Amino acid sequence: MIEVQDLRKGFDGKAVLKGVTVNMNPGMCNLIIGSSGSGKTVFMKCLVGLFRPDSGHILYGGRDFTEMSVEDKKEIRKEIGMLFQGSALFSSMNVEDNVIFPLDMFTNWSRKKKMERVNEVLERVNLTGSNKKFPGELSGGMMKRVGIARAIVLNPKYLFVDEPNSGLDPQTSGLIDQLIREITVEFGITTVINTHDMNSVMEIGDHIIYMYQGEREWEGNSKDIIFSKNERLNDFIFASDFLKDAKDMRMLEETGHIPQSEDRNIEEMIRNANEPLIPPSE
Ligand SMILES: Nc1ncnc2c1ncn2[C@@H]1O[C@H](COP(=O)(O)OP(=O)(O)OP(=O)(O)O)[C@@H](O)[C@H]1O
Ligand SMILES: [Mg+2]
Repeated sequence: MIEVQDLRKGFDGKAVLKGVTVNMNPGMCNLIIGSSGSGKTVFMKCLVGLFRPDSGHILYGGRDFTEMSVEDKKEIRKEIGMLFQGSALFSSMNVEDNVIFPLDMFTNWSRKKKMERVNEVLERVNLTGSNKKFPGELSGGMMKRVGIARAIVLNPKYLFVDEPNSGLDPQTSGLIDQLIREITVEFGITTVINTHDMNSVMEIGDHIIYMYQGEREWEGNSKDIIFSKNERLNDFIFASDFLKDAKDMRMLEETGHIPQSEDRNIEEMIRNANEPLIPPSE
């Protein structure tokens, strides 16, 4: 578990994180959502030690990361896997050299043992046989999978992923989401994902934290979102009439009640949903 307590961070006198307190749970995908500029990336960078917070505490399994010596921080960093936007692969290195990199950095294992581990994780992400390919020869989805293999090669307890679906089509995004979730559950990892992707929110949102202007505005799971009365959250998630309708239909399914709505005719919406798009021929 990661406990974040009253985390604050600003730049040049401008507050970006304004006292965030949340827990990230093990064995599940903890999603951070919120509009552009709400502070998701700054938050994640504070958690992994790329930014120093102005105040507050970050506890990894009860160990206070913010109060630690440099040596102890290194120990925690070994337990952290990261996948940042764009996969950040080394373009001059082939797949296996990209994946072996953290093992070269943090272990003194033999080459044979390292290669065994590399092949194990490449198999886990369905990339067996791609060892010698270069990033330029891979599709966006394959690059993400190499990024995931590299992020898990040290068997992390904590996995941080910033916008895993950027630049991917919806189907590939779904496959990447499923892979991240499977790995999270399989190895009991505490996974933290920043995302804009509403499909991810609904599919893998075991624990969702909505950030609004540097504060934790709402917390729950994907089912809670459907029933939430938090207006800021609803405006953010159900930004289009189409999604507002989908929310209402889902509530109807779950509760048997049609929610009150002033500006949309729900009865008509349901009638339309039941009508075939092409009328049957006479
Ligand atoms: N290194 C930095 N120096 C100064 N300001 C920064 C720095 N990094 C981020 N900020 C500011 O912090 C705020 C939050 O940025 P952040 O990148 O965390 O947003 P985000 O929620 O990740 O947005 P997006 O959804 O677009 O990725 C922004 O106003 C940004 O300009
Ligand atoms: Mg960001």
